Amino acid sequence: MRGSDTLGVMKIGILTSGGDAPGMNTAIRAATLVAAQRGIEVVGFERGWEGVVDGKFRALTRTSTSAGSGLMPTHEVDTCGSIGGSILGSARSKRFYEPEGRAQAAATLRSIGGVDGLVVIGGNGSLTGANALATEHGVRYLGIPASIDNDIGCTSTCIGVDTALNTIVEACDRISDTARAHRRAFVVEVMGRQSGYLCMAASIAAGADAALFREDGRSEDELVDLVAGAVIRGFANDRGKQRVLVLKAEGIEVPCTRLVRRAQEKIEATHPDLEIRATVLGHLVRGGNPSFLDRMVASRFALAAVMGLAEGASGEMVAWQSPLSGGVSTVDRSVTRWPLAKVLEETQALLDGQSKVVQQRVALMHAAAGVLAL
Ligand code: F6P
Repeated sequence: MRGSDTLGVMKIGILTSGGDAPGMNTAIRAATLVAAQRGIEVVGFERGWEGVVDGKFRALTRTSTSAGSGLMPTHEVDTCGSIGGSILGSARSKRFYEPEGRAQAAATLRSIGGVDGLVVIGGNGSLTGANALATEHGVRYLGIPASIDNDIGCTSTCIGVDTALNTIVEACDRISDTARAHRRAFVVEVMGRQSGYLCMAASIAAGADAALFREDGRSEDELVDLVAGAVIRGFANDRGKQRVLVLKAEGIEVPCTRLVRRAQEKIEATHPDLEIRATVLGHLVRGGNPSFLDRMVASRFALAAVMGLAEGASGEMVAWQSPLSGGVSTVDRSVTRWPLAKVLEETQALLDGQSKVVQQRVALMHAAAGVLAL
């Protein structure tokens, strides 16, 4: 049954783009359910913007045969909410970065007919693309932030962050088990090419002895000293510690193995008995079933995004931010909508370290450094 708030929206498209994040499927499921309940048909584009450019999509809703009801999700959508990755596939579409690719995407949307708006689930690149498509070709969209790196402006969290943190903490707990058995130190590298958030947050939860992240601006020599110092201090005889754990963000360009080799060389003469190992968690961090928190956040983002599109909004991203901090209020008191231009500006500031949010994160980590080292 079409509600009075749908402003003639009959069909929407959903896509997941950029690095996948646990909870993307939950958002697809929730958005489809919310749309179906309002009589809005949903199609899913495959492999992000690539599918929009090439016109590769499939129906996510179907007409119910049971009496009295209209649309319902396909079986695939109905069952996908608890699994990681993306049932639609994801990609970083190089073609879509170019105006020609976007023109082709707009032509595809016209040719398949009747797509009244897009729900774009992704990170910085995906949302930048959506904004360009809207500006150049008038395509309506609402963005949902999804990035395990938590590097999107105007939102305190993104789909995938909580699951990734849980995965890192669990991996660190496992590494700590074997580290303690052998009285070893480990440097564990976690994802986060441009943002050290995962490293910072996980280091507290995992009880690490130190955290190394790009935002600190340390030189390679300083990083080596920091690791060597943490290992020597951690294993000091009077402390009785059996493991030392240092978390390193991927954004630090020095490879984990080189850092460990250099720190090992540094302590060799004075502490020949101490052993440091390297583990790179890599893509392990991005997989897995979404946590409760990610499922909840993804579902509430999806509700606000579909309702926003149905109410005529466009060119905005839903965010986990109370209305007190600005943004457009939604039906959900924890979710607001922000103009994409503002989101992109804030995201840039997050990535280049100018954002107050990053500065506060780094200040907090400095305050915590002494505590971690205890
Ligand atoms: O999703 C963000 C991110 O996880 C970064 O932290 C990481 O560097 C990057 O994606 C890796 O992406 P890809 O799988 O394309 O190499």
